[in-house]
Parts: sequence; structure tokens; C-alpha cells
Amino acid sequence: MLKKDDKKNEKKREKEIDKLVKKLTLDEKIAMIHGASLFRSGAVERLGIPAIETSDGPMGVRAEFMDDRWIPLGNQDDMVSYLPSNSALASSWNTELAYKTGRILGAEARGRGKDVILAPGINIKRDPLCGRNFEYMSEDPALTRAFVVPFIKGVQENDVAACVKHFAVNVQETDRLMVDEEIDERTLYELYLPAFKAAVQEAETYSVMGAYNKINGTHCCENKKLLDEILRKEWGFDGAVISDWGGVHKTKEAAACSMDLEMSIFPDFDDYKLANPLKELVEKGEVSEDAVDAKVRNLLRMMYRLKMIGSKKDSRKAGVYNAPEHREAVLHAAEESMVLLKNENHILPLDAKKIKKLAVIGANAVTLHSNGGGSAEIKALYEISPLAGLKMYLGGNIEVVYVPGYYVPAKPKTFEVNWQAASLDDLKNTTVGQPPRDEAGEADAHRKGEEERLAQIERDKIEIHEKNQALFEQALALAKDADAVIFVGGLNHDYDCEGSDRPDMKLPYEQDLLIDELLKVRKDTILTFVGGSPVEMPWREQAQTILWSYYAGMETGNAFAKIIFGEVNPSGKLAETFPAKYEDCVTAKNGQFGNWGKIALEEGLYCGYRYYDRQRIKPAFCFGYGLSYTNFEYSGLTLKAEKGKDVKLTFTVKNVGKQAGAETAQIYIAPIAAQVDRPDKELKTFAKVELGAGRSKKVSLTLKQEDFMYFDTQLHKFIADAGDYEILVGASCEDIRLRGIATLS
Ligand code: BGC
Repeated sequence: MLKKDDKKNEKKREKEIDKLVKKLTLDEKIAMIHGASLFRSGAVERLGIPAIETSDGPMGVRAEFMDDRWIPLGNQDDMVSYLPSNSALASSWNTELAYKTGRILGAEARGRGKDVILAPGINIKRDPLCGRNFEYMSEDPALTRAFVVPFIKGVQENDVAACVKHFAVNVQETDRLMVDEEIDERTLYELYLPAFKAAVQEAETYSVMGAYNKINGTHCCENKKLLDEILRKEWGFDGAVISDWGGVHKTKEAAACSMDLEMSIFPDFDDYKLANPLKELVEKGEVSEDAVDAKVRNLLRMMYRLKMIGSKKDSRKAGVYNAPEHREAVLHAAEESMVLLKNENHILPLDAKKIKKLAVIGANAVTLHSNGGGSAEIKALYEISPLAGLKMYLGGNIEVVYVPGYYVPAKPKTFEVNWQAASLDDLKNTTVGQPPRDEAGEADAHRKGEEERLAQIERDKIEIHEKNQALFEQALALAKDADAVIFVGGLNHDYDCEGSDRPDMKLPYEQDLLIDELLKVRKDTILTFVGGSPVEMPWREQAQTILWSYYAGMETGNAFAKIIFGEVNPSGKLAETFPAKYEDCVTAKNGQFGNWGKIALEEGLYCGYRYYDRQRIKPAFCFGYGLSYTNFEYSGLTLKAEKGKDVKLTFTVKNVGKQAGAETAQIYIAPIAAQVDRPDKELKTFAKVELGAGRSKKVSLTLKQEDFMYFDTQLHKFIADAGDYEILVGASCEDIRLRGIATLS
């Protein structure tokens, strides 16, 4: 399927693969298709087939672990660039940054000797409480697709495979190993699959990670419909499918479908489902050796593409990590990712000349986030906190006074380790590692661990309340006495974390109480947040200034200071809705999130802005929203049907303010007389334009016929109805500036 492999080379490669497969013994083939260490497959030295070295993703290359235990080696040579999270990247709406960030990730992975980087994570954000949302891009498939394609291309330019994850519908962490997600076909095809399809067909990803969860009763890593019918047959994928760690449950089923490499969190490598248990079934004749060969072929094909084997081995790229130019690119991405949510009375940007004493209040001014979150944790070469960024920016003539404002309890011992180690800890009383795997025991252990975590959060609340009395007083006194007050709060990886979902959408540690008090003494308090997922902002009407940053990488503090002082004009826009309160979410209403055992995606297509639109519910900040220090005007929409089918549109964006800035214009399609129920409007494309003060630019974009389509379950294909469609050009999904009609014949 790869366009870039010309036919002749492809034939030659397939012949070589066939030859190799013939030479391999069953034992050798079995060794290749399962983990021989926590992050490495088995090698066949006799034939020059190396092990496949993998590492997490997506915010940089993870530190080295022991081969058979989740204990970091503590090396001094595995620090890396800490890159903006996928949620930060997507809120830049600048796809060039996805390419550049992917390219850095690939170069650093290769530089660290890796073959597969377990990234990017692209699951659709269905509920704001999902613990891993910070690793994902958006609630919208078109935006995710626009980012995943350049990201993967950037990674793979370095002779490193992207492993796009988690395929598919991995939308919650609660009961993540066992939860069964009931989803209808149309929703699957229209919302949850398009970005994966683009990763395969447009970005030509070399590998895909099967998710932990079940879809309609079958685990993704054993799901014939998902892996064979959709991924291989419909999309033509010929690369490697790697299981999520511990995602394979049944030998026969995993053998019978396109699950090529089983990885897990346990050290009993020989007992993995695709190890001895599979070998025995082949020897007994219950599974044909051809099934094993097919997996080996897919892995070898990926290895050829990576130049791990074959005639191009000597030209494989070497990669580089921590290159100085990586820092520049990471800074730039961070700058474009931050979202200005409110800025009344032009409080921002601050004028440093008018400040003698600056108050900085809140734990996230000094919290470092790189080393947390689960498998996305990074051992960063460095990470600049917002406070450090402010001080570095201002120099020594301004007094910058920091107080924590609120109390953050130290993590209980059990949470100090990463998710994988913690889960092993939870599982120690089960028969883990002894086939057959005790899945009921595992689920039970996971549930107990989760209950304990929630109980700990409740216990912590008492201590937080006690300690906060003095901290609040100190913060309020400082706020009264300073020329400007910056609050830096938000979340951290105790909340945005793999393996568990957030208990609610509130800011933890009584931050809301502190913010209320701060706004009473200083109306002009600049409220800033670092976090990986939306929070309720009950005080947002009173607040004058709100700036939001996702986990934006090692240059977060520098980007933050440049925005606060106006050296950078903010241009990020939300890639997900910030609901006013959790109860407004469709999942809160239908109760189909965070349950154990089973969830039904009853809302169908109506997730994210599609739901708020339909129900006329006003979120706190809508999808696509974000302010700038300048203003933009839109004008002159023209629509032209091209080649009978494509619709070409042009319009003009003008910067009508006094300083340069960038605006993202978003194109939504609203079917007027659809033959089936369709969302009120859906994002299809967008353009980010940089404009000097007073300048304007004509934007030209094309809507393809596929942009008008929906999935017809009877015909099992995407179709478009003839008729009128409203084309909406918006500064956000609520702020539609231009409208026109396109007619499909
Ligand atoms: C996560 C994956 C990760 C893998 C390896 C799993 O627990 O779900 O995203 O790549 O571990 O660390």
C-alpha cells in the first residue's frame, strides 16, 4: 500500500521476507512475536534479525527500565527533550508544529536507539474526566486527523516507526483492561476511526497499537473485525500491530487475527499468550503455522522499512536527542498552544515597566509535570516552570514574590511509582503471570486500587482544608500588596493520569475558594492554569483574565512569560469544549462513562460540540475558542463548485488591531436537508493565518466531496446526499462570521 515503495522494490522486499520466513524455525518465529523484555521483542541473531526496541511516547522518549521489572535504571544518559503534550499541540491549530514535533520525537527516539515510538495517542475525547485526555488531541475527528498525519510523517522520517494508539475507542481509564464499549457502526466510522484511517492511509504509519478495551464484546487486540476487516482489508494496512501492554487475553483468538506482537507488563515472557501457549497449539495442529508466519511477515516488513534489515541497513538514520534546535521548536510550539480564554480591560499583556512588585501565587507556578502521568512520563533534560520563566524574563530589577496559595499533599507511597509498577503492586495477590491469567483477580485488584485512590483523595481533603487557612491568608496579603498578581493553578498528574479517571471536573486543593477570595481583593488577578483536561470555572464571570496552558513541554515557563508580557501574542484555540459544569456533559446525563464492565456509547455522534450544539447548551468556553491581543475581521466569502464535486472557498481575514497576531478560521459544514440525522455542524478544515497589524489575507480552502459524507450502515460506505449545505466560517464553533450555501448535485 505504500506509495513511496515503488512496485519493484516492494516485490523484491516481499521475496526477501518470504526467504527469511522459510529459514526461521517455529521457536524463532514465536520469539519474534512476543516481548522478550518489557520493551523489546525477541531477536534471531542467527539470521541477523534484531530485536525491536520500543519506548513510550508521546511527549518525548521515556527513560530506560530494567528488562523485567518496572524499575527505572536511573541512568544519566536518558534525559530527553520534553515535548508539548498532544492536547497542547492540537490547541495550536498549527499542523506544521505537529510535523516538527513528530520529527523531533522521531529523531530523539532514533538517537536513543529505538525502533518504535509508542505514539501518538489520538483517541477521541469523549468525556472531560478521562485520565489520559492530556495525551490525546481533540474531541473532533477532523482536527485529530489534521494533526496525526504530519506528526507521524515527522516521526517516520527518522527511520523510526510511529505506533499510533490506542486502536480503538479507548475512551476511559476505569476498568480499562476489561471494559466493554458498545458502539454503533456509524459512530465508530464517523467519529472514532477517521483519524486512525488517515494515520494508515495518509501518514502510512508503520505500526498501530491495539487498545486494552473491548469493542462490542471483543477485546481490541483479538478483534477480527477491527484488525482484519477494517484495518487490513478496508484500509490496506500492511505494517505491524502491537498489543497494548497486557492487552492480549486469549491465544487462539489473538493467533487468528492480525495481532503481530504481544507486549505485556509481566516478566513471564515465555508464558505470554503468543509465546509457549501459541507454540503448543501450533504443535498440536490447533493453530496453523501460517498464522504465525503472517505475523512474522508484518514485523519483518516494518523492519525493512526502518532499515533494521535489508540492503539499506547502512543508510539508516542515527537520530539525535537533546539537540539545541529541538528546544527552539519546542518553545515555539508551546507559545502557539496556550489559550487566552478571557482578557477584559486589556489586563494582559502586562507592561513590565509599570511593575515593581509581582505576586505569583499557586502551586503550578513551580510544579514540574514532565515526570508523571503514567507511560507518558518523561525524564526531561530540563523543564522551565512558569515562575522560573517569569523570573528569567524579567531579570533582577522587579521583585517577584512567590507563595504557594494552596496545599498539595505529597503523593502516598503507592502512587509515587508509575502506572505499570503500581498495577503490578495491585496485582500481587492474583495469579498474575501464571497461565491462565486470572482476569477476575486483575479486575478486582484494579477496582480495589481505584477505590483506595478515591478514598485517599477524600482523606486528603481534610488536611488540605486545615493547611489552606494559613496559605490563603499569606496569598491574600501578598495580593493586596503587589502591583500585579498572577495566579498559576490547575491540575497535575495526580489527576491527569493513566490508569484512572478524574473523580470530578473541579479544581482540586480548594483552588476555587482561593480564587474567589483573590478576586475579592484583586479584581485584576490574572488567572492562569496548567492542566491536561477541562475544569469547572465557577468564578469565570467575575474573572477578568484567564489563560490556559496544557502540559506544554520543557519550555512552558518561557512561553508563558512571553505571552504574559506580550512578546508573543496568544493564538491557541480550544481543541475540546470546556463545559460550564460536568452535569452538562452527555456522558454525565446518560451515565455511560466511568462504569466497570460495560459502557454504551448511547450518545452516538453527539459527543463534544456536536452535543452542545444540538441541545443548545452553552459551555463555559466552546470548541475552537481562543482570544488574541488583537482582533480579526472576516469578509467576502465566495464558494465555487470545482470539478463538479469539490467546493472551493475563499474569504478574507483582516487584523484590525494594533499588533501582529494569528487567527485560526474554522470551516464547518451544516447539512440543510439531510436525509438522515446529522450533527448541526461539523468541522471539516481550518487555516491559521499570521497577520501584521492592519494587514489582511485572502484564504483559499477546498472542501472535498468526502467532507460532505456520512456513513451509510446499509451500504457500508460513506455517501453524500445531493442538496444544499451551509458552509460556515467561524472564529470558533459558536462565533460564525461568514455563511454561504454549497449545492451538491
Ligand atoms: C499504555 C500504553 C503504553 C504501554 C507501554 C500501557 O499501559 O496504555 O500507552 O505505550 O503501556 O508503556
